[in-house]
Amino acid sequence: MRLKSKHVLGLREMEAEEINLVLDTADSMKEIIGREIKKVPTLRGRTLVTLFYEPSTRTRTSFELAGKYMSADTVNIATTTSAVVKGETLKDTARTLEMMGTDVLVMRHPISGSCHLLARTVSCSVINAGDGMHEHPSQGLLDLYTIRQKKGKIAGLRVAIVGDILHSRVARSNLWGLTKLGAEVVVTGPSTLLPPAAQELGVRATSRVEEALEGADVVNVLRLQLERQKGGLFPSIREYSRMFGVNRERLALAKPDVLLMHPGPMNRGVELSSEVADSVYSSINEQVTNGVAVRMALLYLLLGGGEAA
Ligand code: CP
Repeated sequence: MRLKSKHVLGLREMEAEEINLVLDTADSMKEIIGREIKKVPTLRGRTLVTLFYEPSTRTRTSFELAGKYMSADTVNIATTTSAVVKGETLKDTARTLEMMGTDVLVMRHPISGSCHLLARTVSCSVINAGDGMHEHPSQGLLDLYTIRQKKGKIAGLRVAIVGDILHSRVARSNLWGLTKLGAEVVVTGPSTLLPPAAQELGVRATSRVEEALEGADVVNVLRLQLERQKGGLFPSIREYSRMFGVNRERLALAKPDVLLMHPGPMNRGVELSSEVADSVYSSINEQVTNGVAVRMALLYLLLGGGEAA
């Protein structure tokens, strides 16, 4: 089986069976990451370019490592040191990279929908590494993979997503993926940071964090995106932390074997306490490793032929 599109733009566009294909393929990739020599020839001769218009540690590095572990040639474009600073448009930059033989372009951009524009512009594959407030599909997939790995299933689980849902592309990709795979999702945060049409997304919304955490199998805490706040959406960071921060007392409302997640980077002491971030419930470090496996799976399925690894 193959992915239906040659691009990965969002989990909204992916069918449940395609999502499961990525998660199953990631199992094989994780075994490779665990080896002493992390190298297979699968993508030899293929070229991966990462083009990031916003900062990143996890996503950019894990796509680069994913390519390297499968013997692809990888190039990173930092827009601060590229011709972008001379005024080159996104389309011209992308076409330039394509003409050099790029097979897959991984892009992060502050504008929602920019990756769709890119996919219409170039003939190589495009992977959305986060576009504005829209989607971050590889993060959604690695979160699903981590839940499935730790809980053995996704269907029927109760997942609480806490924080700035409105501005979060991670939340949006999680919502699409979790609901397609049969999880029950509740989102919580200040009412000003909840999506107005949560029900249309198939999820329940509440501004009472305790209500959302009660009986949860999984608690996914989002970063408070200070850089995207237009101002006035919550009184202060201290107030946010007091009202919505996930700490030991709040986490105790969830199931005793709750899985605590965070996409990173964390604002320790703001959206979650260091105590819970470093607790036995936390899968935050595992999520990072799983991010490499899931991105290897995506590259393999887009470029490697789509048969079993
Ligand atoms: N979770 C995530 O996207 O992290 P980075 O911004 O470091 O890539």
